[in-house]
Amino acid sequence: MARFETQVGIVGAGPAGLMLSHLLHLNGISSIVLEARSREYCEERVRAGVLEHTSVEMLREAGVGDRLDREGLRHGGIELGVYGVRHRIPFVELTGKCVTVYGQQEVVKDLIVRRLVDGGDIRFECGEVSLHGIDGERPSIRVDKNNGVDEIRCDYIAGCDGFHGISRSAIPEGALILYERSYPFAWLGVLAEAAPSREELLYMHHDRGFALYSMRSPRITRLYLQCKPDEDISEWSDDRIWSELQARLGCMDGWKPAEGRILQKGVTGMRSFVAEPLQYGRLFLAGDAAHIVPPTGAKGMNLAFADVHHLAAAFKAFYTAKDDSKLKTYSKTCLGRIWKAQRFSWWMTSLLHRFENETAFDHKRQVAELEYVTSSRAAATSLAENYVGLPFE
Ligand code: FAD
Ligand code: PHB
Repeated sequence: MARFETQVGIVGAGPAGLMLSHLLHLNGISSIVLEARSREYCEERVRAGVLEHTSVEMLREAGVGDRLDREGLRHGGIELGVYGVRHRIPFVELTGKCVTVYGQQEVVKDLIVRRLVDGGDIRFECGEVSLHGIDGERPSIRVDKNNGVDEIRCDYIAGCDGFHGISRSAIPEGALILYERSYPFAWLGVLAEAAPSREELLYMHHDRGFALYSMRSPRITRLYLQCKPDEDISEWSDDRIWSELQARLGCMDGWKPAEGRILQKGVTGMRSFVAEPLQYGRLFLAGDAAHIVPPTGAKGMNLAFADVHHLAAAFKAFYTAKDDSKLKTYSKTCLGRIWKAQRFSWWMTSLLHRFENETAFDHKRQVAELEYVTSSRAAATSLAENYVGLPFE
């Protein structure tokens, strides 16, 4: 067995694990990142696209915001569509802040390059990972690959391995409280080679179901359709996808999405989930390993960054001043923001989707709420301040 030592062992090279490793490095704290998939896979995986104001500031302050500043698309608002009529929510006017559209895989690429330039230890395709001694003084991570085992001994472990990772399940049953809600729909997402024909994102409520018009770059559009949770993607030809997008997103003033070659398509389930607390012994959970939000509020990657902001600050206090108070309060500190993001993501989801078997009363109430949000400055400000990101506590 090969043995390695580090201060913080990190499982997962998504936004949470990579950013944590980088922030620790900036504070002179060592880490090893263990990632099940290949570097190419991590860099190509199409997922989130919207960075809150707070996440952008964090990336800039950490010295990894140069390409984001050059290539990210700054959006001063979003549009909400109700039956073909668009209403703008002007973030800058209401909050003084904007969001930035920059693909998660671009953030991941930037962080990987920066870690490698700084001599960071990221082990892609690492093999099978298991956690040991997390309730003792000296935990370790074992990695089993091709019948050889590596042992990484560390002071602490950060479980940043997403919703399906092994970290959360290493915590004994009964030590976590799980809060969960599922939704009776999913999103069919496509990436299309088509220049965006709107400047900002358009969230459309429609009788046929919700649709979202988003983008990635001046050449690439990202679009989503509300679909069944068990939707069979093979039943969706490119023609069917475009005709459904046109039907839902087409507006009264004649605007409709420009079509192009579909580069990628997939179905994403919708779930709200929180595991409390985010710590067990010397294992700390961050990002999707601890919580999931439905994507309608564009909060997942941003919450992952908020968690590691607090976790890195807690490790810094511990290693530089022997102060473990922030490690002890890490979970509580994060949960305040996590639950506010849960509330917002649930609310945006409930506001915009069609619910099968809803009563006529519920549908009338939903449309009234959309009319209220799009006509009241107070209601629009509440949406805007949550969307651009609540301040770190
Ligand atoms: P992940 O990105 O899931 O990273 C976890 C890593 O751990 C992965 O690389 C995985 O391969 C690795 N791993 C897993 N198991 C193991 C193991 N056993 N051993 C070693 N490594 C392991 N969020 C937003 O903020 N804005 C959006 O607009 C948005 N849109 C989204 C759209 C879609 C279609 C989807 C699916 C998600 C969206 N999200 C959005 C959510 C966002 O992508 C996630 O919240 C984000 O990826 C969380 O980052 P993470 O680092 O915690 O986890
Ligand atoms: C995206 O561009 O992928 C995206 C944008 C906004 C969301 C979710 C996803 O709410």
